[in-house]
Amino acid sequence: MFGSRIIARRLAVVPRRWAHSHNPSTRPPLSSVTREDVEHFSKILPSSAVLSTLASETASQAELEPYNTDWIGRYHGKSTTVLKPQTTKQVSEIMRYCYERGIGVVPQGGNTGLVGGSVPLKDELVVNLGNMSKVRSFDPVSGALVADAGCVLEVLSEYIAPHGHIMPLDLGAKGSCMIGGNVATNAGGLRLLRYGSLHGSVLGLEVVLPDGTILDGLSTLRKDNTGYDLKQLFIGAEGTLGIITGVSILTPPAPRATNNVLLALPSFDNVLPLFKKARQQLSEILSAFEFVDRTAYNLAVKHGQGKAMSEEEAEGAECFILLETSGGDGKHDEEKLTALLEDLMGADEPLITTGVISQSPAQFASLWRLREGVTEAVSKEGKAYKYDISIPLASFKEVVDTTREHLRKLGLLREDAVKHVLGYGHVGDSNLHLNICAASYSPEIETALEPFVYELTASYNGSISAEHGLGAMKAHAIHYSKGGVAVDLMKKLKNVIDPKGIMNPGKVLE
Ligand code: FAD
Ligand code: MLT
Ligand code: ZN
Repeated sequence: MFGSRIIARRLAVVPRRWAHSHNPSTRPPLSSVTREDVEHFSKILPSSAVLSTLASETASQAELEPYNTDWIGRYHGKSTTVLKPQTTKQVSEIMRYCYERGIGVVPQGGNTGLVGGSVPLKDELVVNLGNMSKVRSFDPVSGALVADAGCVLEVLSEYIAPHGHIMPLDLGAKGSCMIGGNVATNAGGLRLLRYGSLHGSVLGLEVVLPDGTILDGLSTLRKDNTGYDLKQLFIGAEGTLGIITGVSILTPPAPRATNNVLLALPSFDNVLPLFKKARQQLSEILSAFEFVDRTAYNLAVKHGQGKAMSEEEAEGAECFILLETSGGDGKHDEEKLTALLEDLMGADEPLITTGVISQSPAQFASLWRLREGVTEAVSKEGKAYKYDISIPLASFKEVVDTTREHLRKLGLLREDAVKHVLGYGHVGDSNLHLNICAASYSPEIETALEPFVYELTASYNGSISAEHGLGAMKAHAIHYSKGGVAVDLMKKLKNVIDPKGIMNPGKVLE
């Protein structure tokens, strides 16, 4: 019954191809980096900041491997040269030269992106921002933080913590990802429910444009309606319009008290009523409401991601919710949370079977680890096909089940092909992470999944990229979520800002 409804939906999906796209093939082909180019870069940068297999002994191919391979090990570039500038001026000089020579450039932060956007598709030059890691200023009254793009998110959190502030975003990759990469991907993460997206919290950007021009927009003003808000173009552009070198961002005051609780639910059907109830009863102190299905939970536990509840407690649960509160009065917050839990447990038909409330900072971190660690658990278990979709919350389970059933019918659900199909994500943002964990990457599995997953998502009027971006993985599929007029306008904008098409070629727009 379930399957037939989805087939009906799928028949209704007509891929929206656009009629008048700009044709990038009219551009001259990009140039490969040569030995002479490396010699030129060595005049701009100290020798330790130039890694190349072209100039003798600066780097071996093996040393370039981490810059050429993405986090999930699915995309492998062939770059011969990686540059690690320390200043905006150096980035500008590199770009001016690359623009003249027509060399393709891949901006790279922590290389934790999940859509193959941060590594070259061919032999483009990699400009890694890791050496640009200074905090430029922090205003403890307004909370405005101005930092180099290569500052690691967790380092920034630690920097502002003594001033009683937190970063407006948090994600599992916080120990490696960089603020420039976060802005370039418009990363969502675990705090979006509370603090909104980077389109709201970024106050200004400093960007080096493809021809080397520096766009200095590092404002710390909260309000500035003077003309077009250019910074918004670069937030989520995935390095296709320029290199972000500095970020000005509004950091909120740290909550005085935080609590979290892991809830076991007997049925997925309880997620929606639970979310509604939690929002009503906890109102302003609800700061996260994260979903982990049974398969994701089992994998996290199997691969040692945080201590959760005992096996007996988790037995019978179809899925789990990690709920967090953040507020200004610990006693008041605890009372509200306890009242909610009592209501949930005491109801005639309880929405939850059990809940574990953290009693110490270590337990608090451990519960979060279980949710944040799903990504790592999946990559330890096998090779991940990651789909990051926005769909109506009520359909989360339906989409996971439909995909699993589809793979089963094709005979692919077996230990040496697709090992697990799982779902987890951000309930508060209607953002499901549908993961297919396979024994290895194979064309057979990929063909089974695409365009199937994109069509399924489009049938719910969803987005094929809720928060990870399009990168190389989904550039060809943009039309499942955006109409022809929008894609055409994006191509025109790209052409105005990057007429030679040197910025992150093959990403976002084909
Ligand atoms: P990279 O991976 O290096 O680059 C990502 C993209 O941005 C590339 O297209 C690159 O070219 C571009 N880019 C990088 N730096 C710059 C720059 N300075 N200027 C211009 N372009 C640039 N994402 C979420 O949204 N929510 C999550 O909860 C989340 N959790 C994650 C958990 C784990 C364990 C992992 C591995 C990833 C997770 N991600 C999540 C993916 C997310 O996109 C990244 O973690 C992060 O935002 C990327 O930052 P980065 O510095 O690693 O960028
Ligand atoms: C998450 O929410 O855990 C991240 O977006 C990473 C992932 O999708 O695995
Ligand atoms: Zn996520």
